[in-house]
Amino acid sequence: MSNILIIDDEKSIRKTLSEILSFEGYKIEDAADGEEGLALYKQKTYDVVLCDIKMPKLDGMEFLQKAAEHNSDVPIIMISGHGTIETAVEAVKKGAYDFIQKPPDLNRLLITIRNAKERNNLVKESKVLKRKATKVEDIIGNSEEIKKIKATIDKVAATDARVLITGENGVGKELVARWIHEKSNRTAGQLVEVNCAAIPSELIESELFGHEKGSFTSAIKQRIGKFEQANGGTLFLDEIGDMSLSAQAKVLRALQEGKITRVGGEKEINVDVRVIAATNKDLFQEVEEKKFRLDLYHRLSVIIIHVPSLNERNEDIPLLIERFLIDICTEYGIAKKNIEAGAIKLLQDYNWTGNIRELRNVIERLVILSGKAISTEDVTHYVMPKSLV
Ligand SMILES: Nc1ncnc2c1ncn2[C@@H]1O[C@H](COP(=O)(O)OP(=O)(O)OP(=O)(O)O)[C@@H](O)[C@H]1O
Ligand SMILES: [Mg+2]
Repeated sequence: MSNILIIDDEKSIRKTLSEILSFEGYKIEDAADGEEGLALYKQKTYDVVLCDIKMPKLDGMEFLQKAAEHNSDVPIIMISGHGTIETAVEAVKKGAYDFIQKPPDLNRLLITIRNAKERNNLVKESKVLKRKATKVEDIIGNSEEIKKIKATIDKVAATDARVLITGENGVGKELVARWIHEKSNRTAGQLVEVNCAAIPSELIESELFGHEKGSFTSAIKQRIGKFEQANGGTLFLDEIGDMSLSAQAKVLRALQEGKITRVGGEKEINVDVRVIAATNKDLFQEVEEKKFRLDLYHRLSVIIIHVPSLNERNEDIPLLIERFLIDICTEYGIAKKNIEAGAIKLLQDYNWTGNIRELRNVIERLVILSGKAISTEDVTHYVMPKSLV
């Protein structure tokens, strides 16, 4: 059954619309002004909103704007009186789905609502499809190390065990995290990523746990944190070694109790979240230097997956090159370029400090700069000089 919210200050209009629409099988809630309407709108998700234009407190245009700031997916149909048709047109330009005139014509009302609902379903469906289409890339490699990592992913994915992924920059830690989520039973929820190194320490708590409006100077609206967003899914704490000690204490508590409190809030909120963390730092060293809490380390590292550097598994390089050539040439809309055996050999012996990310960039450079095929000279020319500087 679809939920409709009717916002109008005229009681008779609310009554008529409610009666008609309930009769048609809709579930109706109503509000007598924009403010009251907005409060309801924020509490739950309606399928369609009918909203008058001239109202006390918050008028229809203001409601439209504030509603869209909160959730722009719900179609809003304006109800316009004689004097407000121009405003109604304006509202449609600003994102309202459509408008109907007072007194409402029954057929037009029902058709407009049905169309609005249909459009909304399409929007929702295409979002789901988009999510499915952005498939996780394969983990390429035939080395023992990669086989072991894939086997570990298969074993741990379906459990809720916390995983700590370690390894140098660009080795594929994030890719491993994505696969653990993908193969878990948590794909109805999201994989929510937090790059702990990129967030200033004074903001990380609000980022992770959310905040209540007014809890600090710049907290102008309530905000839902990453823990809550990841409810039912997976939270990926990237670069965990860079998290401040005070944030570490809060994360520890969240992991121990499965509950969080928004910054400036009092209510405890239960969260069902599986945590995967990653770092390129030696966390033991960080513990020794008192920069990382030992108790948090133990909580996070139920399973440890170490992703080896590319230099340690250079037998995977030919396969990776082949994959990147296909991907990059497709991206550029050109025929797949080939690469000479000698060129592959040179790349295999190269010292990859930036690991797979660097390899991909180098292949992209070679695709752009080489002729029909990538030759040994191309590699000495465009790749090797770098190691001399
Ligand atoms: N085994 C692999 N097969 C194919 N592509 C890979 C593999 N490992 C990594 N990649 C690709 O290399 C790039 C870097 O990987 P990713 O971002 O997962 O590394 P990371 O370890 O998280 O790096 P950083 O420490 O810098 O955050 C990505 O584009 C990823 O898709
Ligand atoms: Mg990463």
